[in-house]
This record gives sequence, C-alpha cells and structure tokens, in this order.
Amino acid sequence: MFELYLDTTDALQLARFNKALPLKGITTNPSILAKSGVGLKETLNNCAKILGSDARFHVQTVGNTTEDILKEAEQLHALPYDIVVKIPATEIGLAAIKQLNATPISVLATAIYSVQQGFLAALAGAEYLAPYVNRIDTLGANGIAVVADIQLLVKQHNLKSILLPASFKNTHQVMEIVKLGVGAITLAPEVAEQLLNHPAVPPAVNQFENDWKNVFGDKLSYES
Ligand code: G3P
Repeated sequence: MFELYLDTTDALQLARFNKALPLKGITTNPSILAKSGVGLKETLNNCAKILGSDARFHVQTVGNTTEDILKEAEQLHALPYDIVVKIPATEIGLAAIKQLNATPISVLATAIYSVQQGFLAALAGAEYLAPYVNRIDTLGANGIAVVADIQLLVKQHNLKSILLPASFKNTHQVMEIVKLGVGAITLAPEVAEQLLNHPAVPPAVNQFENDWKNVFGDKLSYES
C-alpha cells in the first residue's frame, strides 16, 4: 500500500492536508524541528493529536558517532508512537543501520544523493530509503534518474527497502517519481498545495456552479 507523508511538523498544515489526503504520517528532520523551535516530544504529541494514534513518524537522529546514533535509535524506538528512525546514509550512519538490521527498530536511510549511497543503505538493511530529488537536481544531476536506478537495483537484488523519496519542489518531480512505482513519498506543504490545486479546476467548477444557479437557484442536486 502506497504511503504518503507530509514533510512538516506544522500543526495548521497537518490539520489542513489531513482532511483531503490519506496521510500515513509525517517525516521530519533536525532543520524542520529547529525551525519550529519545538522539541521532539511536544511535536510528536501535537502531531499525534491531529493524525491519530496510527500515524507513523519518521524522526532523524542527530548524533555524529555510530554509538550515539544507536543510543538515539533505541530511545526513539521506545517512545509510544510508530517511529521510524531516520539515519543519514554516511559511513557512520551505515554502520548503525547495519547493526539495527538485527533488531526490531525500523530505519530510514536519509540524505541520499547518489545511486551508490542508496544501494549501500539498502544492502545495510534500511527499511526505507530517502533520496533527495530536488537537491540532486540542484547539484546538476538528475534526481528522478537517481531514484529510478535505486529502485531498479533494489528490485534486481531482491532487497527489502521501500523508496521514500523526499525534497520535491514541483508536481512534475512528484508524478515522475510516483510513476516509477516507489512505495512512499513525502511532500512539503507547498508541494501538497500544488498537487491539490490545478489552476484549470476552479474556473471549471465555477462554471458548473453558475450554470446550476441560473436555473435552480440555491437548491442542492437532490432538491431539484
Ligand atoms: O528530510 C529531507 C527533506 O526534508 C529535504 O527536503 O525541501 O529541504 O530539500 P528539502
């Protein structure tokens, strides 16, 4: 089942988009939390109130040694939520991911900018892989092609990782990635907004409304 996440902890945005989108949960990272100024526990509590107790939370570690990342992973896993521990796919991060593969702790390998990095994270046993589509594009490479290659390698080698691409800036990137058959994506609120609001739709709906009102006034369909 495809998993859709919002890449935010903003309560207003979550409440808004949770109404129309079947959100599995949220993804977050140290920059998002630092920008909000709200710590992790309060953030999780606030977001769970909006999304419900089944929501999945992808929470990133900040330690810069394998030992610290492992300690964080255990503590995050012990929180009373459905937590996936996000670990940057660096050398020390991959070492932690490899060790966590033998535990029940779910891991997402994040900050993936290249095919080889995604492949190594999948080999280390990450349950999710988060390639950064737009950030790769910004570096002059092709984010969609990187995701396509990682997806191909995961399939060819029968690896268990689910791709959860992040860092989208437009609907073209999102839809090209979804067409690759990835298992999940995470969207910033601005991109969710773009997906929901095609500029051609409001004029079409307004035309229907005007045509209807000209003949039937304020009656609803079943009252006519
Ligand atoms: O968690 C990583 C993701 O949030 C990156 O997105 O928009 O900062 O490139 P962005």
